[in-house]
Amino acid sequence: DETHKLRSVLLDWYDNNHRVLPWRTTLNDNHKEEEVEKRAYGVWVSEVMLQQTRVQTVIAYYNRWMLKWPTIHHLAKASLEEVNEIWAGLGYYRRARFLLEGAKKIVAEGGSIPKTASMLRKIPGIGDYTSGAIASIAFKEAVPVVDGNVIRVIARLRAVTENPKDSAIIKRFWEIAAQLVDPLRPGDFNQALMELGATVCTPLNPSCSSCPATQFCHALSIAKRDSTAAVTDY
Ligand code: ADE
Repeated sequence: DETHKLRSVLLDWYDNNHRVLPWRTTLNDNHKEEEVEKRAYGVWVSEVMLQQTRVQTVIAYYNRWMLKWPTIHHLAKASLEEVNEIWAGLGYYRRARFLLEGAKKIVAEGGSIPKTASMLRKIPGIGDYTSGAIASIAFKEAVPVVDGNVIRVIARLRAVTENPKDSAIIKRFWEIAAQLVDPLRPGDFNQALMELGATVCTPLNPSCSSCPATQFCHALSIAKRDSTAAVTDY
């Protein structure tokens, strides 16, 4: 049906168009537990950084952070001063402090990163966004991830015109994203939506001609029918 087809075009598009980024390492099927853990830690660090800063800026910060603290065990031994020093320039220092506190808590409790979104949410500083990102990208749990890019993509796909700052509407976007997420490749699917929003389905002048999902886009079909409507009005 339509959802299956949409998942498949987005995943194909992602496979051929995603940016190669240091936290997007692939794991083969016989990966070791240790590598899964390391990847989960990398996803956590990168997603916290990406909440406030663009991908291109995050890359250098991420690489410096991972050189200094390659695993959660290394991070757990860091001081707040050291963490703030590496974070300098990213802003929202509270997020860096939460990363440090979260690492300390996980290591104190045995050292492995929780593998589901609901367990991840118990860690200080990890909310719906970060828990969904870590669980889906690192542990393949079929949970949604909604950020500003995903909201815009879904708003256009479904022609949702209500104010996306309203908390009841935001809840709707999480529900729609939960229905859409691909059960077999949830991490790639979520990143496909984020990536599409960042690179194609942009706020102004979206590149509809290079979008893989035009056949599913209600905003585009309305705009084609009605010359006073625009795809940008979402
Ligand atoms: N923005 C935040 N997280 C992202 C990710 N994993 N991929 C692409 N864009 C992002």
